[in-house]
Amino acid sequence: MTFDIEWAPDVVIGRRYKRLQVAPAPPTIRLADPSDVDAIVAMHERCTARSLSYRYLSGTFRPTPAQLAQLVSPAQGCSLVAVDTCVIAVANLVGQGSCAEAAILVEDSWQGRGIGTAMMRHLFDVAPQHGIDGVELHLDAGNTPALRLIRKMSRQIDGEPQWSFDGPIITFSFTTTRPRTPPGD
Ligand SMILES: CC(C)(COP(=O)(O)OP(=O)(O)OC[C@H]1O[C@@H](n2cnc3c(N)ncnc32)[C@H](O)[C@@H]1OP(=O)(O)O)[C@@H](O)C(=O)NCCC(=O)NCCS
Repeated sequence: MTFDIEWAPDVVIGRRYKRLQVAPAPPTIRLADPSDVDAIVAMHERCTARSLSYRYLSGTFRPTPAQLAQLVSPAQGCSLVAVDTCVIAVANLVGQGSCAEAAILVEDSWQGRGIGTAMMRHLFDVAPQHGIDGVELHLDAGNTPALRLIRKMSRQIDGEPQWSFDGPIITFSFTTTRPRTPPGD
C-alpha cells in the first residue's frame, strides 16, 4: 500500500520554511516503494563519508543496492523518502515485534532545513500503523545535528526517551503512542 504524505512546510517545520525559499517547491515526503531504490542508491553516492558513517555507525560500511532494497521494504515497518527533483532523504523504520529501529539520512546539501525533523515526525506517526509502539535510535555521541533532532522529538512527545551508552553509541528509546504536541511547536 502506498500513500502520499504532503509536506506542509508552514506547519511541519515552522520558521525553518524560510530556508526553503531557494527551492522552487518544497520537497514531498512520501512512503518509499521498490521503484525508489535506484534513486536512493544514487543519493547515497552523493552523500559525504561523514554522513554515511553517522547513518550506518561505521567508518567504512556502505549498504549494497540489495541491502537498500531490503530497507525500503522491510518485513515489518516502512521507509519514507523526501523527493525534490530526485530523492534527497530517506528514513527507515525496521520493526521487530512491537519495537522498531529508526534511522534517517538527509543528503548533505539539504541538511539543516528541517527535513530530518519532518521525516522523523512522520515516522513516529506511521509507526503505530505497523504495530510498533517503541522506536529506538542509535546515534554516534558526536553527532550534534542528530542529538538536536532527538531533543526536539523529546519535546514533542509526552515523556523523555530512555537512553543508554555502548561505547561511543547512544541508544534512545521512544514510546510512540503517547500524546503529541501540535506540529510546528
Ligand atoms: C541528523 C540528520 C538526519 C538531521 O537532518 P536535518 O534535515 O539536517 O535536520 P533538521 O534541519 O531538521 O535539524 C534538526 C536539528 O539539527 C540541527 N542541525 C542541522 N544541521 C546541523 C549542523 N550541521 N550542525 C549543527 N546542528 C545542525 C538543526 O539546527 C536542528 O536543531 P535546532 O532546531 O535545535 O536548531 C541529518 O543531518 C543527517 O542525515 N545526518 C547524517 C546521517 C545521520 O546522522 N543520521 C542520524 C542517525 S540515524
